[in-house]
Amino acid sequence: MRLFIGISIGDQARAALTQAAARMERMAAGRYVDEDMYHITLAFLGELEKAQLEPLKSAMDEVAERAAPIRLSLCGADFFGRRESAVLYAGVDGGKALCPIANDLRRALGLRNLPFDPKPFRAHITLARRVHVADDLLAIPIPPAPFTAEGLTLFHSCRVNGALRYLPIWFVRFGAV
Ligand code: 2AM
Repeated sequence: MRLFIGISIGDQARAALTQAAARMERMAAGRYVDEDMYHITLAFLGELEKAQLEPLKSAMDEVAERAAPIRLSLCGADFFGRRESAVLYAGVDGGKALCPIANDLRRALGLRNLPFDPKPFRAHITLARRVHVADDLLAIPIPPAPFTAEGLTLFHSCRVNGALRYLPIWFVRFGAV
């Protein structure tokens, strides 16, 4: 099963992103992400066997216990890659505070010989892929819509009735105060 660990976002933030992305889609074509799939990825693991779920959950437990909830909010749109075919994303204000958690998580996964994509962590919420990005697209405002990162969510990336879905299959609350 294809898995990744991330942060779920609040309803208000989801609604703000949905509205902004609808405006963006009218200006620039691309593969826009369904609103119920918005999230912040901390670690992408890829294909794992069911037998690897137990050590994975134990890594999540250990890391979440040491972490405290973090206040976050949305900031403007930006992109990765080439302007002609970019990944369009919303930035995350306060997202730097997720860095130590992402690093701790990756360390805990490594200690258990669990695989993960080593690309450096940068807090973002992907809105669309294969977008031709013009400056006026990035000027579309995104309201801050504050939310709290309450814990770690394990997502199963799979097809449901042919459509790609990120199903939350496990959640551990941050335990430190
Ligand atoms: P993203 O975080 O930029 O949106 C599921 O594929 C999620 O894991 C997506 O959110 C995706 O990109 C993220 N991800 C991170 N590294 C990935 C990789 N090597 N392959 C696929 N998805 C990856």
